[in-house]
Amino acid sequence: MARKKIALIGSGMIGGTLAHLAAKKEMGDIVLFDIAEGMPQGKALDLSQCGPVEGFDAKITGSNDYADIAGADVVIVTAGVPRKPGMSRDDLLGINLKVMKAVGEGIKNNAPDAFVICITNPLDAMVWALREFSGLPHNKVVGMAGVLDSARFATFLAWEFECSVKDVNAFVLGGHGDTMVPVKSYTTINGIPVDDYAKIKGVSASRIDEIVDRTRKGGGEIVGLLGNGSAYYAPATSAISMAEAYLGDQKRILPCASYVEGKYGLDGLYVGVPTVIGAGGTEEVIEIELSDEEKGNLKVSTDAVEELLEACKGLDSDLA
Ligand code: APR
Repeated sequence: MARKKIALIGSGMIGGTLAHLAAKKEMGDIVLFDIAEGMPQGKALDLSQCGPVEGFDAKITGSNDYADIAGADVVIVTAGVPRKPGMSRDDLLGINLKVMKAVGEGIKNNAPDAFVICITNPLDAMVWALREFSGLPHNKVVGMAGVLDSARFATFLAWEFECSVKDVNAFVLGGHGDTMVPVKSYTTINGIPVDDYAKIKGVSASRIDEIVDRTRKGGGEIVGLLGNGSAYYAPATSAISMAEAYLGDQKRILPCASYVEGKYGLDGLYVGVPTVIGAGGTEEVIEIELSDEEKGNLKVSTDAVEELLEACKGLDSDLA
């Protein structure tokens, strides 16, 4: 059987980390694509030379030509620019929207059967635009946010409770941004609801609220510390788990920015919801019961996503 092919559109910090992880796991052969000339080729060469040391078999190549992603089984998109000082959210939206247009066309023309995972921010709007520009079915285009946001929530909870991260099952819904909704009612420490466990361990409700708030601002905290750039290890790790769920037909239930039509009272929107990922791509969106407060928070979050989509439609008439 031929090896799987994984195309990474954008070979920056997340793209390079994705390539390393995918190679170490021998998920398939890897193509690093970027508009920057030489850089993806250089990273591919460097990463290839990890192979003999780490003992992985994976062909890693770099390219500036979309033809080289032909036949990819999985495409992971990180192409774009991060927000820089002085740049408004609309400026960023305008720039990355143009990037999504080019990437969407590249995928449509070269890898129309791929499962596409978008990471570029602002995530919920970019994954929607990428789907529109690529014309791929909604179940084959998904955004990576919830796995990362839930991992951040789980990390902070494990630190607070001084327990293993393996025992924390954290749950975050909604848009990827300050309005995301960490859902305490579905967050457990090995099955024990987080609020109950907090009582057992003498952790106050306000301390849990602080952890929820830190989770919401988790990306910004790292941006502030790095000084130049944004998080890349955990975003890459999160996207790889989604790619593995697809390639292995694992039917995992992962929080992803999926296309939601009907469920959660939404009408054709990409937003973070629990999603079954298997060989069919995003096979099912799971609608869970939410408290009135959680429903209210989710509405604030989806309203913010809808606002971004309207802004995208204003910026590119092909989306209107
Ligand atoms: N086509 C292909 N690649 C592009 C394009 C394009 N049209 N425009 C920019 N790129 C490339 C850049 O050349 C750069 O190598 O995208 C890469 C982005 O890499 P980084 O700047 O290192 O950004 P990274 O940290 O990897 O994050 C990428 O993910 O989490 C989000 O907010 C983050 O939107 C950002 C994205």
